[in-house]
Amino acid sequence: MEIRYELSKNLKEKPTDETKLGFGHVFTDHMFIMDYDTGMGWHDARIVPYGNIELSPAAMCLHYGQEIFEGLKAYRTADGKIQLFRPDENFKRMNVSAERMVIPQIDEEFCLKALMELLKIEKDWVPHTDGTSLYIRPFIISCDPYVGVRPADHYMFIIILSPSGAYYSTGLNPVKIYVEQKYVRAVRGGTGFAKTAANYAISLAGQDEAHKQDYEQVLWLDGVEQKYVEEVGSMNIFFVIDGEVITPLLTGSVLPGITRKSAIEICKKKGYKVSERRISIQEIADAYDNGKLQEVFGTGTAAVISPVGHLKWGDKIMTINDNKIGEISQMLYDTLTGIQYGKLPDEFGWIYKLED
Ligand code: COI
Repeated sequence: MEIRYELSKNLKEKPTDETKLGFGHVFTDHMFIMDYDTGMGWHDARIVPYGNIELSPAAMCLHYGQEIFEGLKAYRTADGKIQLFRPDENFKRMNVSAERMVIPQIDEEFCLKALMELLKIEKDWVPHTDGTSLYIRPFIISCDPYVGVRPADHYMFIIILSPSGAYYSTGLNPVKIYVEQKYVRAVRGGTGFAKTAANYAISLAGQDEAHKQDYEQVLWLDGVEQKYVEEVGSMNIFFVIDGEVITPLLTGSVLPGITRKSAIEICKKKGYKVSERRISIQEIADAYDNGKLQEVFGTGTAAVISPVGHLKWGDKIMTINDNKIGEISQMLYDTLTGIQYGKLPDEFGWIYKLED
């Protein structure tokens, strides 16, 4: 499919102080869009000025949430070049999410090419300051103007770009996490493994409660027994107990994070014992009481590696590693960001470079 270009005549001012970018507030000059119609497939691929899109108030995504999205980043290397981290994995996962949400499959290679074309136009928006990147948000929405419940016939696939800093305002400093006991995020057979809006909407009540208690994020337990740890919502979760690196098994209700998968591969290569298994919150509390809970950290594209300094489960407050960044968290952060920003060799073959 050919991509049509309609470039903006009014380019925006780029942020002057990149240390104040925050996360997801600023958007670039252009976006990529293509349409899908039953009988025609994906068509009319175009790069157009970033701006509001026209959508009927009856558009199905607005009523029933038939939507999927992805999150990845473009990084600027010391020599000024731009590169991506495992973008093929994002488009692959997008098709897994699409299948669950009865959204038509995308051509993964074409979407990656379209992203590269968009990045070539927007390359000056990739920030230069340490710890910043250009956050990339591809998403698909159902657009038919119809208020009945069924899969749509018309969809839009859009990619927008946002120069960003750290996801958490605390950066790499440990976050405070609250173990949710009232609400659940996902159940087996549901949509937990898909990157779809509903999983995030459903998390807001828990997050709101956590914020009221001065905690940044929610740790979700399984939706049936509320016994086993699942994920944080904005990131996957890892525990280091007595030298063993443990992360919940992907049982269908946990997002298969690309940073999660990369962290597992790095830890294994460095010789750590890594287990993907079910782990109960009681096992974590016991390990804490026995002095064996060495580290807790989250992994995510936006969050990268986020050490957890406090974990609150009911009345029990666990302070992990003296609220300091642990050895494995730091190693993973340095290795991942080292590869992403081109400071370390790409020994796993994860980097895609943007051609000049
Ligand atoms: C990401 O890490 O890219 C995500 O999509 C999570 C989102 C909460 C920012």
